[in-house]
Formats: sequence, C-alpha cells, structure tokens
Amino acid sequence: MRIRIEKIVFGGEGLARLPDGRVAFIPGVIPEEEVEIRILREYRDYVQAEALRILSPSPERTEPVCPYYGVCGGCQLQHIRYEAQVRIKEEMLREILRRQGGLPEDLVEGVIPSSRAFHYRNRLRFHVEPGTGALGFVKRKSHDLVLIRRCLLGEEPLNRVLEALPESVAWRRLQSFAKRVKLEFSPAEGLATLLFWITVEPDAEDVEALSRELPGVKSVFYWVRGPRPKGPFPREATHGGRRLFPVPKAFFPGAENPFYFIRPGVFNQANWEINLKIMETIRPYAEGLSRVLDLHAGMGNFLFPLVPLVKEALGVDTDYGAMEDGRYTAERLGLSGKVNLQRTTAAEALIETWKAAETYPLVLLDPPRGGCRELMRYLPEVASDRILYISCDPPTLARDLKLLLQAGYEVERVVGFDMFPQTYHLEVLTVLKRK
Ligand SMILES: C[S@@+](CC[C@H](N)C(=O)[O-])C[C@H]1O[C@@H](n2cnc3c(N)ncnc32)[C@H](O)[C@@H]1O
Repeated sequence: MRIRIEKIVFGGEGLARLPDGRVAFIPGVIPEEEVEIRILREYRDYVQAEALRILSPSPERTEPVCPYYGVCGGCQLQHIRYEAQVRIKEEMLREILRRQGGLPEDLVEGVIPSSRAFHYRNRLRFHVEPGTGALGFVKRKSHDLVLIRRCLLGEEPLNRVLEALPESVAWRRLQSFAKRVKLEFSPAEGLATLLFWITVEPDAEDVEALSRELPGVKSVFYWVRGPRPKGPFPREATHGGRRLFPVPKAFFPGAENPFYFIRPGVFNQANWEINLKIMETIRPYAEGLSRVLDLHAGMGNFLFPLVPLVKEALGVDTDYGAMEDGRYTAERLGLSGKVNLQRTTAAEALIETWKAAETYPLVLLDPPRGGCRELMRYLPEVASDRILYISCDPPTLARDLKLLLQAGYEVERVVGFDMFPQTYHLEVLTVLKRK
C-alpha cells in the first residue's frame, strides 16, 4: 500500500491515513514522503506498519550514522537532518499543547537546538547480557537486547570505557552477578564513573582492579541492595567520587571556580550545554525577588543560579543523596546562608507553606515524567505570581497546563530545548503568570 506521511508524532513515528480512515504509525519516515508500507499489526482504530520503500525521499533525509539505528530503541530520528529534527520537535510540541492542553499554537517560541547533535550525553545506562557480560540497550518494541560497542549519543570518554570493559579480567569475574551498568561522565575532569548493580556482594579486590584496568575511570560504585551505592574505588577519588560539572562564574559571583558536585545515582541533566541554556533563560525571572521555591530541586541544579538574585531560597526533593550533594555544592558556591534544602515531597512542602500562610512569588517545577497533577490543590495557594515549569514530557505538561489555566494562571512563554538530539524527547520550559 502507498501512503503519504502527514507528520511525526510524539514517540518519533510517522503518521499517515489509510484509505479506510484508520491511522497508520510507521517508524523511519519523514513528513511529505510517499512510502510503500506493509501493515504489521491491526488495532481497532489504527495500524502499526513498516516502510518497505521510500518512494519520494524527503530532502531532509540523511543516512543514519549509527550501525544499531532502527534496531536499538534509543534513537528514533537519526534518518532526519538535525535542523529538521528541531523543526519537527517544535511542530510536535505545538500540536500536543493545542490538542491536549487547549493552548494557542503561537505560544511556542521555538526549540533551542543542541550545538552537539551527537556525543552530548553525559550518562549512559546498559543492561548486562546474561552469560557474556556484554552490554546492550533494549531493542525497539521488545525486551531483547542489542549489544552495543559504542553509543554515538554518549561522550567519547564513556565509549572508551564501554569498549574496554569486555577486555577487563576483573569484569569477566564480576559480570556473572551484574544486572545493570551505568557510565557517567565528569566533564570538568574528563573522567568516567562506572556503576553496576549486582546480586551478591562483589570481591573488593575485583572492584579495585576494575578501576585500574579501565581507561579514564575516576571511580567505581556498585549497588547490592538498598538505596545507597557502595564505593567509590579507588577510595581517594576526589570529592567522594562525585562528578564535577562546570557552571558559569557569572551565575555565582561568590565562588572562585564554580562546579556542581553530583554523586552516582543522583539525577543530573543529560546534556549539560542545554542545561546551562535553561539556567540562563530562567535567571531573569528571579531578579530582585524576595524568595523562590523549587519543588523538584534535585541537587539544586536550577535553583542555585537564582539564589544570588533573591533574598532566600527553599529547595525540596525526595532524594536524600541529592540533598546531600546540594548542601556540599551550595557550600562551595558560597550560597549556604541563603538556600535551605529539605528532603520532603513537593506536596508536603506546599501544604506546610500553606499552613504557615506563606507564599512565594516564584515557584519552580521540574517533575519526573508523570508531571504535577497531585500539586494542583495547594500550588495556587502558594505560587503568588510566577511558575516556571520545566518538563521532560510534553503530554503530561499539556495536561498540567490545562489545570493551571483553570486555577487562574496564564501562559506567558513556552520554549523547547533539544536536550536529546536524535530522539523524540524534548525538554520544555513554560513560564506561567498569575492573572
Ligand atoms: C527531572 S528531576 C529534576 C531535578 C533537578 N531539578 C535537576 O534539574 O537536576 C526530578 C526530581 O524530582 C524528584 N522527585 C520525585 N518525586 C518527587 C516528589 N514527590 N516530591 C519532590 N521531589 C520529587 C526526584 O528525586 C528528582 O530529583
């Protein structure tokens, strides 16, 4: 069957209409292309199909550079030139906000591209193949693994560790008990951290040997069970094995050489350059304010650049390790006296603030993918002027924006940030103001 691709939808697949009115989803295609397809599965009102031949290739089409592309579940847009990927994400965002949030499309200012279309990720997470210890990602639409020698999204030092791991004698001994491996990059040091999840307590000598045998490794951590990783090995790893992320001196006038310090297992934004662009965009909103509240502060990532601009700041998060890293970092940035970090849920922080009859003129939200629906009862009582909502999931953002509009806010701006080139994922900043 021949069809024309209308658009790319969230998830990265092309959408086309069949003659009988049903919608078809097809991976690896581009809007406007004529495609010969084969239907793989039929559902009540849509079908899943594959492209057999691209009859009229789009000028935006390019040869994917990764040998795993199409099999690996990580990337969906590598067959599209990067500039066109950014445009497609902008269209996707407009459509989601219009259809699911009821917002006018012209609110979306655009999507800020990443200067690196590849090798931008500072962390990679792998499954361990049982029996061989080889590392892989999950295949597209499957639970099977595709074994990976190099990931073109990862920073190069992470790939050097990935390539060396199968040659490590210590890893050959450890791998049979290992389930997951994570490689994390420390940009200021040019070194990687290796983390693994293991079912039995490993031999300490093997773990020490692993950190010696792998190139460019700062420290090795592992989890057996429980919330905290063990390590680091070698024990003298700087800053307790935390990774160091440079942040602009202009944001932290009180610090000589400003860094964020983040330990394994604590969330950090995957594309640091884009992270810095988001910080830059949100800073002006804090200028001259009395106080700011961050309800998903993590280790303080988005809150800290605002602290020098306000009188006081409160950040909350449920992750104990993030709070510890936040305090460690705040002290070194010269912010300790002005920022209070508390381990609690966003909902509890709102309720406590409301009980104390306090409000904040600026509230930051940066929730996990599920969004912020549970905050909608007390958020309007506490956020007295502006909300900055940073989202990694446009559909839940659209749902929450609808609720915030009903609660008396209006949307001032929506800006996309391409945190994840080659994939359909996107980070979105929405600025809301109380009417
Ligand atoms: C997308 S991360 C953002 C963290 C931080 N803003 C950053 O940029 O690094 C989401 C954060 O929400 C935290 N979190 C998850 N559930 C939460 C809850 N109920 N209340 C407060 N924080 C929560 C997680 O621990 C995580 O640090």
